[in-house]
Amino acid sequence: MAIINIGDHIEKVLWTEKQISDRVSNLASEITRDFSAAAAPVFVGVATGALIFLADLVRKIHLPITVDVIRVDSYGSGTVSSGKPSISCDLKSDVQGKHVVLVEDIVDTGNTLSCLIEHLKAKGASSVSVCALLDKPSRRKVSFEVVGDGKFYRGFQCPDYFIVGYGLDFAEKYRNLPYVGVLKPEMYNKYPSEI
Ligand code: IMP
Ligand code: MG
Repeated sequence: MAIINIGDHIEKVLWTEKQISDRVSNLASEITRDFSAAAAPVFVGVATGALIFLADLVRKIHLPITVDVIRVDSYGSGTVSSGKPSISCDLKSDVQGKHVVLVEDIVDTGNTLSCLIEHLKAKGASSVSVCALLDKPSRRKVSFEVVGDGKFYRGFQCPDYFIVGYGLDFAEKYRNLPYVGVLKPEMYNKYPSEI
């Protein structure tokens, strides 16, 4: 069987595996410093995109945290948000009276995060922080506010490209690349089964 190197589909790498790992360590140290063991937060990863970031981040947090996931659907299989996120799989944990750190791969329009923050607020979380590996502030349509004493932890500011890798997909592919890069334009014109 022919071996396909999905790295050949990438036009340029924006952040290497090492750069990501170093930044994740810094974010984890900052979060570890900001919380106490007595009020250790629930880390909530937004599936599927944030799962790789979540796995790396939580292993570097030195607090007795718990980990959960929530699933939000907003993109379909294209590159433009539908603008109407819906929670398709809710948390298992009870977050009433707890501190929550929402872990996201990227903040783009802000629709997903503002929907999730409202959801966690309604469930009675005492604070909601956001930890996003990437942020595309130039694309923001909806501003979001952290809850209570929550903070916004941001890995890197991202230029306005559609990017893939380290959890981020195009048509569900490329999540397993260990770095973040820009896809070659010709890849967008293919059907998902041809990528
Ligand atoms: P928002 O609701 O527009 O802020 O979009 C957030 C979600 O869209 C993220 O959780 C990502 O899964 C996805 N997303 C946004 N930008 C990109 C991108 O450049 N590549 C892949 N996924 C993206
Ligand atoms: Mg996502």
